Amino acid sequence: MTLTGKTALVTGATSGIGRAVAERLASQGAAVIITGRDRVRGDEVVATIAAAGGHARFISADLGDFADVQRLAEAASDVDILVNNAGVFPGGPTAQTTQDSFDLTFDVNVKAPFFLTATIAPRMAARGGGAIINVSTMAATIGMDGLAVYGASKAAIESLTKAWTAEYAAQGVRVNTVAPGPTRTPASAAMGEMFDVLASSTPAGHGATPEEIAAAVAFLASDDASFVYGAILPADGGRVAV
Ligand SMILES: NC(=O)c1ccc[n+]([C@@H]2O[C@H](COP(=O)([O-])OP(=O)(O)OC[C@H]3O[C@@H](n4cnc5c(N)ncnc54)[C@H](OP(=O)(O)O)[C@@H]3O)[C@@H](O)[C@H]2O)c1
Repeated sequence: MTLTGKTALVTGATSGIGRAVAERLASQGAAVIITGRDRVRGDEVVATIAAAGGHARFISADLGDFADVQRLAEAASDVDILVNNAGVFPGGPTAQTTQDSFDLTFDVNVKAPFFLTATIAPRMAARGGGAIINVSTMAATIGMDGLAVYGASKAAIESLTKAWTAEYAAQGVRVNTVAPGPTRTPASAAMGEMFDVLASSTPAGHGATPEEIAAAVAFLASDDASFVYGAILPADGGRVAV
């Protein structure tokens, strides 16, 4: 499905799943705004997309800093596709979770997508519609030891997916979520053997590539999903199904 003529903003596009989403949307013709904190990796993604014949530019923003969130929202407000992908997942026991870690998780995973959407969705509606895709996790649905704050933050984004559907669907803005299972990215590489344990616990028996998650996001961004509103689409090898 072509995305020619559309502009997409992908948060966390300097790495992992977000990078794969940006490259996938660009390959389908969208002009993509890459965002993250790391300009070197951002420029690398822009160059990769340009080398493949696509269009991309980088806007640096720290989504843990509310002033930066507002600056990004203004700079990229006239987009047709918003992918709220950037996320942090510091794990650990509840009793050892610091207030700073809790606040950072909710700032990046919930507050930033909330206020990006607050600026961008009304502008999509004013231009006739758009698509917003949030990236959650299987840990929002199943209880996972050591991922209490992370799972709660992603459960919040799944709740917002439904609330925003109630709020914006009649104005042509479709809001959906992809909920990945274990996916091989720089972040999950840091999990070491724990990643392999999680990946082999899926009915599929293995983890995902970032490109497999990007394909699910691209479907929800496209007109092929024109009647898909408020969905939480697991892309987890069947983990939450059994
Ligand atoms: N990998 C998995 O197994 C898995 C499974 C389920 C769900 N997910 C979700 O998928 C999403 C992407 O994860 P990933 O594995 O691809 O992680 P990753 O490789 O660590 O990439 C995370 C991205 O988020 C950006 N980011 C982090 N903190 C930021 C901040 N304060 N401000 C702006 N950008 C920030 C990073 O950009 P900079 O470093 O440039 O700031 C980076 O581009 C997350 O929402 C995660 O919860 C991942």
